[in-house]
Amino acid sequence: MIAATLPLVTAHGDEVTGTFYDRMFAAHPQLLNLFNRGNQATGAQRQALAASVVAYAEHLTGATDLPWNAILDRISHKHASLGITPAQYTIVGRHLLAAVAEVLGDAVTPEIAAAWDEVYWLMACELIAREGRLYHSAGVGPEVNVWRSWRVTGRIEETPDIVSLTLAPADGGPVPAFTPGQYVSVAVDRGPHDQQIRQYSLSGRPGTNSLRITVKRVRSTPDAPAGAVSTYLHERVAVGDTLRLSPPFGEVNAVSGDGPLLLVSAGIGLTPAMSALDHLAATAPQRQVTLVHADRTESAHALRDELGRLIDELPEIAVQLWYEEVVSDCGLPGAQVKAGLVDPDLIPLVPGVRAHLCGPVAFMAGVRRGLVARGVPAENIAYEVFGPGMLRHDHN
Ligand SMILES: Cc1cc2nc3c(=O)[nH]c(=O)nc-3n(C[C@H](O)[C@H](O)[C@H](O)COP(=O)(O)OP(=O)(O)OC[C@H]3O[C@@H](n4cnc5c(N)ncnc54)[C@H](O)[C@@H]3O)c2cc1C
Ligand code: HEM
Repeated sequence: MIAATLPLVTAHGDEVTGTFYDRMFAAHPQLLNLFNRGNQATGAQRQALAASVVAYAEHLTGATDLPWNAILDRISHKHASLGITPAQYTIVGRHLLAAVAEVLGDAVTPEIAAAWDEVYWLMACELIAREGRLYHSAGVGPEVNVWRSWRVTGRIEETPDIVSLTLAPADGGPVPAFTPGQYVSVAVDRGPHDQQIRQYSLSGRPGTNSLRITVKRVRSTPDAPAGAVSTYLHERVAVGDTLRLSPPFGEVNAVSGDGPLLLVSAGIGLTPAMSALDHLAATAPQRQVTLVHADRTESAHALRDELGRLIDELPEIAVQLWYEEVVSDCGLPGAQVKAGLVDPDLIPLVPGVRAHLCGPVAFMAGVRRGLVARGVPAENIAYEVFGPGMLRHDHN
């Protein structure tokens, strides 16, 4: 029954998605504080939820070979960082299935409705179970309150558009462990009833008495407003203020394995790579690691001085920096500097390397294609997308 109705549901996917969110937010306006209003406005997240249920249905009918474990991991880590509760699945399920019935009308018989209800709950159960385990290991109790107050203990303007915030628990308690590549959710109140939540990768070394995030300001353009949370963090948050943070979550490990490691980043995508290098400097300074970083200019490249220190502390590191405009000789001892966009054919490769990519999706897709073409197995390439979604299948 699912196989027979998939084409119909897929053909009306956008309409179902729109109807679902309209219904759900009308019935539960407080959920607007949980969802990213920017993603809602641009449609980026709108498609993600319903599209993934449809993809899961295709998976159950054997119509796809998507990497389900990785997909469910990504969603459940994101959900855990937002504090999604099992009870909320009932709300989403009710409105999603009602939207399918509303859009498809008489085509949805009681049997078809029951079949889609089953698909939804099979996927929901997988996610709820993973999220339950994540909450347990992060010490989040059954009431699922992921939010804890953190004090801003340091603020550094890294570049005109990038700021780093150092944070310590306001209650003086312990700082949670994390793996480079993981992120925290940050919740800010932009006004009464206007909470917004965003994820920020941890850019500092694990195992210290603070966490650090490094945030790029999303400026307005003629067609789009300034980013809500990044602007708030840049303009309104000073040393001494407090912010609400989730525990660290995230399925991508930027230092996985103990063999040679390749970190490729662009722009603000350097945050997991910087955490990875600092972690290796403290725990495995002899590990063979290559950093390839792309930025517009030398002055737009955040944490450059810190990179200089890490080059000193990591004797086996190779660094290749690509600047679209090379203004000076970019004197960073030990770093090779190139002009233009990253050419994947020129990335230094060693046998057995595991790669971690972070940057715009088009950048990562190009680098990934180049690495695969040069013989790096696709399963040895991990990547982090700073927005909803994964690299599409056809990006392989
Ligand atoms: C796992 C993960 C890790 C991340 N790590 C980092 C990190 O280390 N550092 C970092 O800086 N960022 C990171 N991000 C990105 C970060 O979470 C935010 O997405 C980013 O800061 C932008 O958020 P914002 O609230 O400023 O912008 P938003 O308000 O979310 O806006 C995003 C975009 O939507 C557009 N938009 C919003 N409303 C409308 C509208 N009504 N019409 C048209 N367009 C609109 C905006 O113009 C903007 O281009 C990460 C994201 C993820 C998922
Ligand atoms: C089976 C049920 C669900 C599925 C399949 C699903 C799927 C998804 C997917 C694919 C994403 C994007 C992940 C990414 O960043 O790549 C996502 C994010 C999210 N989900 Fe779910 N989800 C489900 C249930 C829920 C529930 C019950 C809630 C809470 C009401 C919820 C709230 C969110 C929020 C707030 C985000 C982030 C949104 C954003 O940043 O705009 N989801 N979900």
